[in-house]
Amino acid sequence: VHEDAGSPPTAITRLRPLLLDPPDAPDVANGYLDLLGAQAPPAPGSIQAAWESSVGSALYTRAQGAARRWVTATRLPASVRRPPYGARVLDVGCGPGDVTAALGRAVGAEGLAIGMDVSVPMLTRAVRERSAANVGFVRADARRPPFRDSGLALVTCLAALQLIPSPMAVLAGMTRVLAPGGQLAVMVPTVRGGLFDRLTRVVGGRSGLAFFDPGQVAGHLHRAGLATVHTHQRGPLLWIVATKET
Ligand SMILES: C[S@@+](CC[C@H](N)C(=O)[O-])C[C@H]1O[C@@H](n2cnc3c(N)ncnc32)[C@H](O)[C@@H]1O
Repeated sequence: VHEDAGSPPTAITRLRPLLLDPPDAPDVANGYLDLLGAQAPPAPGSIQAAWESSVGSALYTRAQGAARRWVTATRLPASVRRPPYGARVLDVGCGPGDVTAALGRAVGAEGLAIGMDVSVPMLTRAVRERSAANVGFVRADARRPPFRDSGLALVTCLAALQLIPSPMAVLAGMTRVLAPGGQLAVMVPTVRGGLFDRLTRVVGGRSGLAFFDPGQVAGHLHRAGLATVHTHQRGPLLWIVATKET
């Protein structure tokens, strides 16, 4: 897709009506809509600090590309319905945007897949390799999703929730922006008592990772207004798929 120099990318123009508080002078200088600028929160742990560095984000892109090809447990479970053609969908903590791009293919040219992240190197890579007229990227904090209520048919968050302080508030924010009948699909590699939990206890507590108990997450999502909540473990990964009441 070729964009005119100086004008906002098409996908950014298309996502503007979904914003709670669209900026008068949007910062799109790097190809994504930057809603944080200098107000980005400090990285809460050593792992997130790596994802906000150029070297860490490059290493991540290579590793996750291989993992997605070979490890089926990283793919969206069958219980996640394909979003309808033309739907608006959000990928929280999108990193290099591979999942966002796949969502863009699912919703087609009339739809819109939005990737959201805090990391400048991750978003720069995502814009370079994944942006399209129906795939756009936003720099914003998952603790305050900048979207209007009930506008999105699917919200995904893969391998990111464990990095974010106040993960339950993040789940509540993702629920708020979901449309009635919409689905939430969350994957965390950090099950309480699992492999990472044991390793992290051995190496000490500076990783900044949160560990999840499936029952606790499910209870929280029910209270947040999600009608059906399924949690299941695939190897070291915990998947949570939930549907908002219609
Ligand atoms: C391990 S990567 C996963 C990337 C992608 N979801 C994937 O599956 O390949 C985690 C991502 O979450 C992002 N992240 C961490 N804290 C965040 C926050 N508060 N808001 C938005 N994104 C965040 C990181 O910058 C990083 O790109």
